[in-house]
Amino acid sequence: MNLIIRKMTLEDLEAVVAIDQVSFSLPWPARSFQFEVMDNEASRCWVVEADGRVIAMLVGWLIVDELHVATFATHPDFRGQGIGKKLLLHALRIAQEEGVVKSFLEVRAGNQVAQKMYREFGYVEDGIRKEYYKDNAEDAILMSLNDLSRLPGG
Ligand SMILES: CC(C)(COP(=O)(O)OP(=O)(O)OC[C@H]1O[C@@H](n2cnc3c(N)ncnc32)[C@H](O)[C@@H]1OP(=O)(O)O)[C@@H](O)C(=O)NCCC(=O)NCCS
Repeated sequence: MNLIIRKMTLEDLEAVVAIDQVSFSLPWPARSFQFEVMDNEASRCWVVEADGRVIAMLVGWLIVDELHVATFATHPDFRGQGIGKKLLLHALRIAQEEGVVKSFLEVRAGNQVAQKMYREFGYVEDGIRKEYYKDNAEDAILMSLNDLSRLPGG
């Protein structure tokens, strides 16, 4: 597979929304992605393209010196092939070049796959938001990465 990681554009929205819908029980409306790409200056929006097809996406918010991972998913047909890790690493490295030193995110308490990946990056659990998710009142685990200089691969 010929993988390219690049900035999300409006042309990607259909594919991005499709990935979001199959990945999350509370997907974002298309207009939210449009806002992130077009209007939100704090937003850093990335896609992974494989042989011309968008197969993963990540939206991060750059808040002072922190990158908040707002949404992030790989299309189910392409999971478990290292694509998510490459994308997260790319987003964190570019953010680091912009002066970011920390990252944080919320993840569903039951999402063991994502939590394992974040732990491999050095994120640690530092709190719980009780019943954060509206669809099933699931708790959110707050995770933070406090030293971007210790990313996998240096
Ligand atoms: C989380 C997600 C983005 C990972 O994307 P991916 O392309 O599959 O990720 P990778 O193949 O790079 O795997 C990254 C790590 O995830 C974990 N992982 C992936 N598939 C897994 C599985 N089936 N079981 C357990 N852990 C798994 C592992 O820690 C893996 O690292 P390793 O292979 O070195 O052990 C993807 O599973 C996804 O889109 N999930 C649904 C949306 C979601 O949960 N997003 C995160 C919200 S906070």
